[in-house]
Amino acid sequence: MRIAMIGTGYVGLVSGACFSDFGHEVVCVDKDARKIELLHQNVMPIYEPGLAELVASNVKAGRLSFTTDLAEGVRDADAVFIAVGTPSRRGDGHADLSYVYAAAREIAENLTGPSVIVTKSTVPVGTGDEVERIIAEVAPTSGAKVVSNPEFLREGAAIEDFKRPDRVVVGTDDEDARQVMRDIYRPLSLNQGAPLLFTGRRTSELIKYAANAFLAVKITFINEIADLCESVGADVQEVSRGIGMDNRIGGKFLHAGPGYGGSCFPKDTLALLKTAADNETPLRIVEATVQVNDNRKRAMGRKVIKAMGGDAHGKTVAVLGLTFKPNTDDMRDAPSLSVIAALQDAGATVRAYDPEGVEQARPMLPGVEFSASPYAAAEGADALVIVTEWDEFRALDLGRMAKTLRTPLLVDLRNIYPAAEAERAGLELVSVGKPR
Ligand code: UGA
Repeated sequence: MRIAMIGTGYVGLVSGACFSDFGHEVVCVDKDARKIELLHQNVMPIYEPGLAELVASNVKAGRLSFTTDLAEGVRDADAVFIAVGTPSRRGDGHADLSYVYAAAREIAENLTGPSVIVTKSTVPVGTGDEVERIIAEVAPTSGAKVVSNPEFLREGAAIEDFKRPDRVVVGTDDEDARQVMRDIYRPLSLNQGAPLLFTGRRTSELIKYAANAFLAVKITFINEIADLCESVGADVQEVSRGIGMDNRIGGKFLHAGPGYGGSCFPKDTLALLKTAADNETPLRIVEATVQVNDNRKRAMGRKVIKAMGGDAHGKTVAVLGLTFKPNTDDMRDAPSLSVIAALQDAGATVRAYDPEGVEQARPMLPGVEFSASPYAAAEGADALVIVTEWDEFRALDLGRMAKTLRTPLLVDLRNIYPAAEAERAGLELVSVGKPR
C-alpha cells in the first residue's frame, strides 16, 4: 500500500512511522520546511519514547520518507491521511478546522487516482461531510472516498498504543473504502487480533469525542471521590482498586491526581460541548467535568499552601514534574501551570525540575527557577511537590530529601509514596485522597 500522511504532529508522525513499520510505503508531508529538514536528520519534533529509532529503521529500509511537497506525497497514493492539528478556536472553544479543510482542498487538487481520504485528526461530527463536499467540488471525477479513522494513542505510549490498539474504528459505508482500510490495518488484525469496528462516518467521528470525554469524566469522578476520602478518612487508592475490580467499571483511569491536562482532553471536551450546544442537546456531565477539572488544578496549589501552614509568603517550593504527564515534553494545559501560578500568586518562590519538559516550560513559567536535579530543586525549600509522576521520581532518596529541604514536607499529588516510607525518611507526607 502507498500511504500519504499529511501533517507530522504527534498523530501524523507516529501513525506514519507505524504504518511504514507494517511494511507500507509511507510519505509524510508537512508545510514546515524546518521540521522536514530535521526529520531528514532523524531529529524528532516531539519527545516520544522509541520514535526516533522506529523512524530511522524505516527510513533506512526505504519505506518512510518526508517531504514538504504535498503533490509528491499524494501522487498514486492508495490512501491519504489527514493528520493536521485541530486546536481550540480562540474565543469559542469550537475545533478550528481550517487546517483540515485547507489540506482537503490541496489533496483534491493533486489527486491522481481514486484514493481513499482518511481523517485521522480529531474532528467534530460532520467534518467528513464537508471534506467530501470539498473533494467533490475540486476534483469531481476523482472517485475519492472520505473515511473517518480516529486515533486513540496516548502520548508517551504512542507506538505501543498504535501497534496494539483495543480497537480500530473506521467510519464509512463504502465497501471499497472499507477494503482499503482492511488492507492497511491487516498486519494489526493478523498479529494481535485487534478488532476493526466499521461504523458510519458520523458515528466514528463521535466515538472519538465520546471516548475522550468518558475518560475525562472517569478521572474527574475519582478526583472528587478523593476529596471526599480526605473529608471522611478513607483511602482513594483502595476505593479505586475496590471499584475497578468490577469489570463493568474497570480499573484504568482511576488514578486521582491534580486534574487532567494535555492536548486532547481539555480541547476535545470543549469541542464536544460546542457540538452538543449547537445541536441543542446539552451534555451536563461533561459540562460539570470541565468545570470541576479547571477548578481542581488551582485548588492543588492551595492544597500545597495549606500543607505549609496556610502562608506561602517568603517560602520556596520545589516542584517535580512539569509536563501534563510523564514521557512527553508536552506542557499543554499541564496542571503544573495552575499549581505554580497559585503558589506564585500567594507569594512563594518556585523552583522546578522536569526530565524533558524544561525547554517547553521555560517561556510558560516566568519567575520559575529551573534546577538540574530533584535534589538541587529541593535545596533549602519549604516543600517538595510531585506534580507529574515521572519514573525517576519513584525512587527518590527520601532520607536525602528530608535533609536537603528546609522543612521536610512532601506533597505527593500523584500518590507515588506510601505514608510509611515517607515517615521512615522523616518527611511529613500530604497525598491526594488519603486519611491524614
Ligand atoms: C488521551 C487519550 O487517553 C487517548 O486515548 C487519545 O488518543 C488522546 O488523548 C488523543 O485524543 O489524542 P493523552 O492526552 O496523551 O491521551 O494522555 P492520557 O494518558 O489520557 O492522560 C491525560 C491526562 O489525564 C493526563 O494529565 C494524566 O495525568 C491524567 N490522568 C490520566 C489522571 O489524572 N488519572 C488517570 O487515571 C489517568
